[in-house]
Amino acid sequence: MANKIILCIGDVIGINGRTSLKKHIDEIKAEFDIDFTIANGENSANGIGITRNTASELFDMGVDVLTTGNHVWHNKDVFALIGGEGRLLRPYNYPDNTIGLGYNIYNAFGCNIAVINLLGRVFMEALDCPFKKVLDAIKHIKNKTNIIIIDMHAEATAEKIAMGYHVDGQASLVFGTHTHVQTADEKILSGGTAYITDIGMCGGYDSIIGTKVENALSRFITHIPHRFEVSLSYPMINAIVVEIDEKSGRALSIKRINRAYKEDIIEPQK
Ligand SMILES: [Fe+2]
Ligand SMILES: [Fe+2]
Repeated sequence: MANKIILCIGDVIGINGRTSLKKHIDEIKAEFDIDFTIANGENSANGIGITRNTASELFDMGVDVLTTGNHVWHNKDVFALIGGEGRLLRPYNYPDNTIGLGYNIYNAFGCNIAVINLLGRVFMEALDCPFKKVLDAIKHIKNKTNIIIIDMHAEATAEKIAMGYHVDGQASLVFGTHTHVQTADEKILSGGTAYITDIGMCGGYDSIIGTKVENALSRFITHIPHRFEVSLSYPMINAIVVEIDEKSGRALSIKRINRAYKEDIIEPQK
């Protein structure tokens, strides 16, 4: 097999995202003949952060690597896990010596696949420069594999697009996360890097980026903070499927998955 087919799943939002993914991940993987699966897990624990339990739930259902973003440190539980779990990444551009890995190389069916996690800086925290750090990571990875996948967790579309062009020809894929809204701009850049500004989320279909409509809406109207609550509306799953030439690392195709499951009822859990 000369090609690898990668599934990248958008931010998994709390119980709703986890339950729907568990129910549908196998059928999606079978449908597209998936070799390797990445999901963004920064919202998997009650909508903000990640815990040992939510991470293992996602690994157990068949996610190979979990990326994160600005909410990675929200649950203290993560500190006991991230130092010894190579399948869980935090953005690479946190200060040097931050606990956990910002990139790693994985083996899938005899082939090495590198995943790099980055955090944008526009309207976000002032971390190290992701444009500098990504080249540093690629330098370390290049002699081990040509398949390099980047989760650029960022707010601003232009910053994400800029990252795509920055590594065009060096990375196989740059996908955006964090806005929880899937964009329709998937393409393959001239150097062979697949690109999409945001792959979306897994969570409530009727929601404001995964949270209960009433709470989030009321915050905008009243400017009074409301308790964040995960939407338990019927779910949707947003993801992309990218085919990559194993030898060259060039992307051959990129397609979006955007499915709603009206018949699924999510049972509220404490
Ligand atoms: Fe998120
Ligand atoms: Fe985020």
